[in-house]
Amino acid sequence: MSFLSETLSRVKPSPTIAVTTKAAELRAAGKDVIGLGAGEPDFDTPQNIKDAAVAAIAAGKTKYTPVDGIPELKQAICAKLERDNGLSYTPAQVSVGTGGKQILYNALMATLNEGDEVVIPAPYWVSYPDMVLLAGGIPVIAAATLENSFKLTPEQLEAAITPNTKWLIFNSPSNPTGAGYSRDELKALTDVLMRHPHVWVMTDDMYEHLAYDDFEFCTPAEIEPALYDRTLTCNGVSKAYAMTGWRIGYAAGPVELIAAMRKIQSQSTSNPCSVSQWAAIEALNGTQDFLPTNNEIFKRRRDLVVSMLSEIDGITCPVPEGAFYVYPSIAGLIGKTSKGGAKIDSDEAFATALLEETGVAVVFGAAFGLSPNFRVSYATSDENLKEACTRIQTFCAGLS
Ligand SMILES: Cc1ncc(COP(=O)(O)O)c(C=O)c1O
Repeated sequence: MSFLSETLSRVKPSPTIAVTTKAAELRAAGKDVIGLGAGEPDFDTPQNIKDAAVAAIAAGKTKYTPVDGIPELKQAICAKLERDNGLSYTPAQVSVGTGGKQILYNALMATLNEGDEVVIPAPYWVSYPDMVLLAGGIPVIAAATLENSFKLTPEQLEAAITPNTKWLIFNSPSNPTGAGYSRDELKALTDVLMRHPHVWVMTDDMYEHLAYDDFEFCTPAEIEPALYDRTLTCNGVSKAYAMTGWRIGYAAGPVELIAAMRKIQSQSTSNPCSVSQWAAIEALNGTQDFLPTNNEIFKRRRDLVVSMLSEIDGITCPVPEGAFYVYPSIAGLIGKTSKGGAKIDSDEAFATALLEETGVAVVFGAAFGLSPNFRVSYATSDENLKEACTRIQTFCAGLS
């Protein structure tokens, strides 16, 4: 009998972390590597947020806190949801965890029984299916297409729902595609959910503030108020406020679900870091002025990457509405051979050859459930992006 649990055999390690590790190894061996794999902004956390953390330390806010967040932070979250999303929640309906990741995990652990299905639109954030498996559920992948800009259609959602469906996990703007659903597109999906009252929606709004051009973010409970009682609205400060290391995520939903999530957290990690909670209050209540400034930079980088990749024969690169990723298709390159002799028979082979032959690290599409594609994170400097895209152009031109 194995010492390790059977649950572990159901999940795989994060492929995005594997790419980062491989890139670090090559860098340590002296290779000139440009990493386009990281899912975090290259900006520093804004000064007012850091100052709030320093003040919290000085004031001795360094002890255990209530398991799922201090009242002041829950209040700030309620105010944010009202201000930005038109959603009314009380502090008893709010849970704060160690990052958005823990919040989603708690919710799945708190609700899934054997045989319960969770509909996950692909391309998806790598952790969703594995979290569902860890919690004992069954991920049901509903694949969107490039032709539909990587967005799930109502017909695809309808087809994925069975009597065993417990949740739909919804993520807009999306990691890995950057695709954002318009109000009409989201309404078409919530209309489907209205026909299936046993299905709840877990919406991961992590990239809410990273939206470009005239794209307007929207979230399910706002679009369909009748879904309020079966929606868990998840969000966090990691991406928009450049606070990935502080580890604060939150969710708002029905009181019984929030209490169940608290129970899980109380027997695993207890409260999220006290100092980070005070910093998150400043993030949510303080100035939001840097958001448009950062978005201008991200939009410029998005346009740079999309235009340079679109020049490549065999690559199709849609323009995403938000987040800081693009998800080009390499369908036109499959079957070719690289200068170094690698056969490009999959997106994984493409990403591996690209890293080994040019030092550019990207994540292959199979990791996100839709091939043949790769994900570029443009949360890095313009210089890095220009150099990396030039290397990708040269690599692709060398394929025969
Ligand atoms: C879609 C999505 N949801 C959730 C998370 C997790 O965020 P956090 O770092 O707050 O745990 C990420 C991080 O990459 C993400 O891309």
